[in-house]
Amino acid sequence: MKTVQGKTPALVKEINLIREEINAVILAHYYQDPEIQDIADFVGDSLELSRKAATTTAEVIVFCGVHFMAETAKILNPHKTVLIPDMDAGCSLSDECPAEDFANFRSKHPDHFVVSYINCSAAVKAQSDLICTSSNAVDLIKQLPEDRPIIFAPDKNLGKWVEKQSGRSLTLWDGSCSVHEAFSEEALIKLKIQYPNAEIIAHPECQENLLAMSTFIGSTSKLLSRTKESKSREFIVLTEPGILHQMRLEQPNKIFLEVPGVDGCSCNECPYMRLNTLEKLARCLKLKEPEIIIEKNLITQALIPIERMLEMST
Ligand code: 13P
Ligand code: SF4
Repeated sequence: MKTVQGKTPALVKEINLIREEINAVILAHYYQDPEIQDIADFVGDSLELSRKAATTTAEVIVFCGVHFMAETAKILNPHKTVLIPDMDAGCSLSDECPAEDFANFRSKHPDHFVVSYINCSAAVKAQSDLICTSSNAVDLIKQLPEDRPIIFAPDKNLGKWVEKQSGRSLTLWDGSCSVHEAFSEEALIKLKIQYPNAEIIAHPECQENLLAMSTFIGSTSKLLSRTKESKSREFIVLTEPGILHQMRLEQPNKIFLEVPGVDGCSCNECPYMRLNTLEKLARCLKLKEPEIIIEKNLITQALIPIERMLEMST
C-alpha cells in the first residue's frame, strides 16, 4: 500500500483502491511533484519509462509525465488504455517542432538519417528513422554508419553535446527546452562561490555555457546515479528540481541545491510536468480519462523508430 506524506489519506486510499480494481500501473517521471513520485509504481527517466511501458502487464497505464511520454506508451501499447492526469501537460520542446515544418526541413536533406529526441510528437516520430533519449543519444549516434549524414531534432543543446561526445557532425533542428534554457549562469556562479566544494551536474538540455561549468552531464537517472557514486557531499543540480526528491530520499546525508532561473524566477520547474496533481490522478483513475488516442496508421509509423531505439539501447 503506497502512502504519501501530508496528503489526505482518503485521496491516497482512493487511488490505491482504484488502481487495484482496474489493474492500472502508475508511471511517473522524476520531474513530477514529490507526492506523485511517492504514489507511483515506478519512477524513471524517459528511456526507463519507455521500457516499463513496453513490458507492463497492467491493463491500464496512467502516465504521470508529459504528453509525448504518454503518447510513446500508447504507441508501444495500442490495445491498452493509456491515461494522463492532465491532457494539457505538453512540452515546449515538442511544440517547437511542428510535424509539417519538420517534413519541410527533412525534404531539404533527403539523404540524411533522421534521429529524433523522444521529446517530440507522434507525428514527428513517424517521420524519424530512430528515436533517442538523453540517456542513450550518444551511444545510438555512435552506432550509425559514419558515411551517413544525420538530422538531429528537436533539441539543439542536446544535439551540440552529442556532437562533442560522439565526434559526429549533426544537422540540428533549432529547438530548445524553455525550462533548461532559463537557468541563470549568474545564479550558478553565485551558488558555486557559496558552496565551493559542490559538484555541478547537469542535464544535456542545458545551454553550452552551463554544461561547460559542469563536471557530470547526463539524463535524470544518470544524474541520480552520479549523486550516489560520487564522493562529493554537495551537488548543484542543473535540471528540473523534481529530481531532487529522489536524490534526497536516496542520499539523506548529502546536500542538493537547485539553480534558480534568470532574475531568480521559479521557472526552473517545468510548468507542463507540474500540471499533474494527486487530485487529477485520482479523477483520471476513476473516470478513465483523459485518454491518449492516436490514429492507427500513425501508431504503426511511429512504432518503428521507437522499437529500433529499444533494440539498439544497451
Ligand atoms: P530524461 O530522459 O533525462 O528524464 O529527460 C526528460 C526531459 O523531459 C528532460 O527535460
Ligand atoms: Fe519538455 Fe523541458 Fe518540460 Fe522536459 S523540462 S518536459 S523538455 S518543457
